[in-house]
Amino acid sequence: MIEAKRDGKNLSREEIEFIVRAAATGEGMDREQLAAWLMTVVWRGLSIEETVDLTRAMAHSGTVLSLEGVPKPWIDKHSTGGVGDKTTLILLPILAAAGLSCVKMSGRGLGKTGGTIDKLESIPGFRTTLSIEEMKHQAVQIGIALGGQSKDLAPADGVLYALRDVTGTVPSIPLIASSVLSKKIAGGAEIIGIDLKCGSGAFMESYEDARKLGQTMLEVGTALGLRLSIEITDMDQPLGRMAGNLAEVQEAIQVLQGTESGRLTELCLTLASSMLELAGRDGNLAEQVLYDGSALKKFTIWLKTQGATADINQLVKMPLADHVEELLAPLPGWIESVNAGMVGEAVVDLGGGRRRKDQPIDPRVAVETLVTVGQQVEAGQPMFRIFASDQQSLTQAKASLDRAVTISNQMVNPTPLVLERMGE
Ligand code: URA
Repeated sequence: MIEAKRDGKNLSREEIEFIVRAAATGEGMDREQLAAWLMTVVWRGLSIEETVDLTRAMAHSGTVLSLEGVPKPWIDKHSTGGVGDKTTLILLPILAAAGLSCVKMSGRGLGKTGGTIDKLESIPGFRTTLSIEEMKHQAVQIGIALGGQSKDLAPADGVLYALRDVTGTVPSIPLIASSVLSKKIAGGAEIIGIDLKCGSGAFMESYEDARKLGQTMLEVGTALGLRLSIEITDMDQPLGRMAGNLAEVQEAIQVLQGTESGRLTELCLTLASSMLELAGRDGNLAEQVLYDGSALKKFTIWLKTQGATADINQLVKMPLADHVEELLAPLPGWIESVNAGMVGEAVVDLGGGRRRKDQPIDPRVAVETLVTVGQQVEAGQPMFRIFASDQQSLTQAKASLDRAVTISNQMVNPTPLVLERMGE
């Protein structure tokens, strides 16, 4: 099978099931062979049929959740990951306040992109280890349950993803599509909103690749009975002001309080209304529940139900790390780019993200981005505010941020946030 794929041949459903079984059980192929096969896929690709077979086999390599008993429609969202991406914290309360049931498994951050579980763990008392039964019970009670990725769900993906992470085989469209969709199928949802990030702070840096991934997900997801809405969105600059775990929770609360009105709010409303429409509801409900306070109320109930010991007023006042410094614009002009990847790297430098899977993180460090693309700035105007726990990491983060912004002497048009909507 390694040789067949190396030579550009297609594999049968049985062959792909054999490979997935080997990943899940350790029998039939060893790790070296699995890694070699992954590299042949990076080079040769998979047909849509092979990708469907791979996704189905990975989804069924462990437990497939049944959400029977939870009111329909069952909804889930996925972001391909980005810097400052706290949309889940805002989107789930909006969707639940609009009457949908969201049962979601989220991951931790790795590298420059953050993870929802790390963000939620910056809330004192918040429990992210819920059993499946607890998640279902909570979804019935309040419409939202969010826990860490269970090892029983799509275990073959867990093994293959870990191998990909260390063998340079992450960037493959069929491998990413099958990895994401298999976990969604195993999680039991029927309607999935996908926020497909594109730009320097994302897996897919080019628009062309993002479109190809979107098209593959759509074809594979539809073949396997999912209903998908996919938005390709800009990740060339950080999403919202804050990157850092506690700071992002605080910013999410401000959006839910209706006091933020930038690109983050726009993105959450766009994603929410697409998902509501896909579920047969009025897309305008998203704006309604955000601005009449019901989404904030849902968020408050959600925190309490999952064990938070601080309420939202206490959370927004919790101090960030106390070595604070601003980085100033060296010259006047228009902001041409803010490299999201470099902002993400700076957060990792500060200890707010991981370079290795088992690394602890510091929830109170953050980078606040004070400028957006297209904005006019004066020389000496603050562009970033850094919140560090010590001087050494502050110096390191400053070095990462130093080259993150380019300033033009001519007017720059802001980049659109939503580049394309795909799907139903
Ligand atoms: N996220 C996933 O879950 N899998 C991938 O392959 C890439 C991003």
